[in-house]
Amino acid sequence: MSSDLPTLHTGPGPLDFPDSPLGRAVRQPMMLGLFLPLQTGAFSQSTLPRGTRWDFPYNRHLTEVAESYGFEFVFGLQQWVPKGGFGGETRYRENFLDPFMSTVALSASTSSILTISTVHVLYGNWHPLHLARFAATADHISGGRYGLNIVTGYAANEPLMFGMERIQHDNRYDMADEFVSVMEDLWAGEDNLTYDGRYYRLTDAYVSPRPRYGRPILVSASGSPAGFAYAGRHSDIVFTSSPAGAEFDRAIEALPAHVAKIKQAARDAGREVKVIINPTVICRETDAEAKAYYDSIVSHADMGSIEAYARRHQGGDAKGWQQHVPADRIVGGHIQIVGDPDTVTAQIARLRDAGMDGIQIGFYDYLPELHFFGEHVLPRLKAAGLRL
Ligand SMILES: Cc1cc2nc3c(=O)[nH]c(=O)nc-3n(C[C@H](O)[C@H](O)[C@H](O)COP(=O)(O)O)c2cc1C
Repeated sequence: MSSDLPTLHTGPGPLDFPDSPLGRAVRQPMMLGLFLPLQTGAFSQSTLPRGTRWDFPYNRHLTEVAESYGFEFVFGLQQWVPKGGFGGETRYRENFLDPFMSTVALSASTSSILTISTVHVLYGNWHPLHLARFAATADHISGGRYGLNIVTGYAANEPLMFGMERIQHDNRYDMADEFVSVMEDLWAGEDNLTYDGRYYRLTDAYVSPRPRYGRPILVSASGSPAGFAYAGRHSDIVFTSSPAGAEFDRAIEALPAHVAKIKQAARDAGREVKVIINPTVICRETDAEAKAYYDSIVSHADMGSIEAYARRHQGGDAKGWQQHVPADRIVGGHIQIVGDPDTVTAQIARLRDAGMDGIQIGFYDYLPELHFFGEHVLPRLKAAGLRL
């Protein structure tokens, strides 16, 4: 933002309160999140039969199970898809529950887990006053457990659905910076806000009730220098992806330098951020069984939807996952962890060594695999000092 604009106030955030839900969550050496399957096919484009469902009762049950295992958060993706989603045999993402509404509802039926929703702040001329009040209300409903994952939208077709042209990549982060700065001022709530900015104007605007711990949790998901700079200024948590594709050994080489850049961007802004990544975890009693299960998922690739999804990425302008190949989509995740409980524990430890503060896990068949993880991997993570 240019310096000739009136000053916006920034109040404290949830990390400034050690006993806020986020303040407690970050005490974990490795935070655990569940990437909710709020959309058909979740994150894996394979036809191998499974019990994963997109409906709300299923997601509510998963959230309750994750909470019972002590997971710190659940998280919802946001995309806008045309009729039939990405098609293929699975009709990938044909049904897509809105993550904002779903996570607010989930927060009302849980008591300790953080619920985080992705929001495209630039689509449809949405105003920061709307989101500041919606999120303050969600914060109130959840008792300070609500988080916004602010994204600017990389897909080519989504802005068209909202009657807009796509905004240039770095300019989007500039607009998001002003959007979120306005919300931060409203949440700080010192006085009515009158502001005439580059993108947004408000006259005597105010939001009450105010969020319990200064403001809702702010998250962003990015892989580019402009995204890191935005995150450094505003985010408590940054979701990032592997800059070297989803295969574990290649990804783990590239991650330390990548994470260091994100943390440095926050230090440049006089702040601190936590960095997390989204693995798909394929865990079975033995390494051989896990590998066989992985191969079986891959051999059932839903090529129709993978080709449609690859077109989305070719048409998009995300900088963060250029090394990801369409085949990574079959199993899903921005990094893939495959093995028995000891192998999975060891790989999560390597992610910690690479600088990650948490993982946001996706599974192929969510419910049984979440239970298997809770019963077999969690105790090992504790024994390894990765969980309190
Ligand atoms: C874990 C993760 C979750 C993401 N979730 C969404 C999402 O729900 N909707 C969306 O449009 N983009 C999502 N993105 C994409 C990012 O907003 C961003 O466009 C991408 O990481 C590329 O970064 P860049 O825009 O800084 O180049 C996600 C990215 C990551 C790493």
